[in-house]
Amino acid sequence: KQLQDEIEALGASTKEEVEELRIKYISKKGLVSQLFADFKNVPGEQKKAVGQAINVLKNKALDKINELKESFENAEQGAGGTDLSRPGEPMRLGTRHPLAIVRNEIVEIFARLGFTVAEGPEIEDDWHVFSALNFPPEHPARDMQDTFFIQRDPDVLLRTHTSSVQARVMEKTQPPIRAIFPGRVFRNEAISARAHCIFHQIEGLYVDENVSFADLKQTLLYFSRELFGENTEIRLRPSYFPFTEPSAEMDVSCSICGGKGCNVCKYTGWLEILGCGMVDPNVLDLCGIDSKKYTGFAFGMGIERITMLKYGIKDIRHFFENDVRFLRQFEGTY
Ligand code: PHE
Repeated sequence: KQLQDEIEALGASTKEEVEELRIKYISKKGLVSQLFADFKNVPGEQKKAVGQAINVLKNKALDKINELKESFENAEQGAGGTDLSRPGEPMRLGTRHPLAIVRNEIVEIFARLGFTVAEGPEIEDDWHVFSALNFPPEHPARDMQDTFFIQRDPDVLLRTHTSSVQARVMEKTQPPIRAIFPGRVFRNEAISARAHCIFHQIEGLYVDENVSFADLKQTLLYFSRELFGENTEIRLRPSYFPFTEPSAEMDVSCSICGGKGCNVCKYTGWLEILGCGMVDPNVLDLCGIDSKKYTGFAFGMGIERITMLKYGIKDIRHFFENDVRFLRQFEGTY
């Protein structure tokens, strides 16, 4: 009975102490074993009761010591019994967004031609989005139907194109200027598979003495072949923008069918990918650059459209839904 109480009260503060207790009570020479050894001296009529008592005592001692042992093992494994030595849970890497992949690729191509990167604000004023870019006062782009206004008079609005960064850079910097401007733009459009109210553009600007349309054309040809492959051809069609004169739209030969005709290029063999032109002298002057001394070219392209062509994506809304099933397809692409 005394030994039973003693065992019940056992405690230990280190693993080593538990081991000492194990030796003292339940090893071959321990106190409990000694009771078994003395058992032969117990008178016959008491053998049954004493035998039972010793067995109970032995189980008590075993349980108690195991319990102490386990408590130390758990403590070693850290809080909550987590085994800190186990290999970690496999962690799935994130993926770069397809628009970031293509944007980086375009930035790298122009970096090789000496273009640096600049950025401007998404929330703009009328001057940088329209007036400095030679938009006439009644131009339809200034309408609420096309542009998101945050405030009227003075107008605060979401930029509708990255051309606003052209104006900002020219106001701050004298030529030579050779830079590209990636960023998000906003238009008040109904969302569909082909159009979104948010999308991304990359704008390019080159201003120096004697910059010609031939420089623009060669720059765009180099860019197109780097991005779509060395057999890519380009085609410039006359167009109109208030801030460039002359202006053009550029097509590349269809990278899907190689120009033979498919439903992506609508059987024309060509895909329209950007707008461009020589910076209108009015714009240079409005931004503080001497249009008698300098000329320049500019171009602007939509990143969504190029990404859709490159990867065969058929619905622009995928880019903004962040469905991991869509995003994971770009795993391992940088
Ligand atoms: N800003 C024009 C657009 O959004 C593209 C462009 C940029 C055209 C630069 C000419 C020069 O459509």
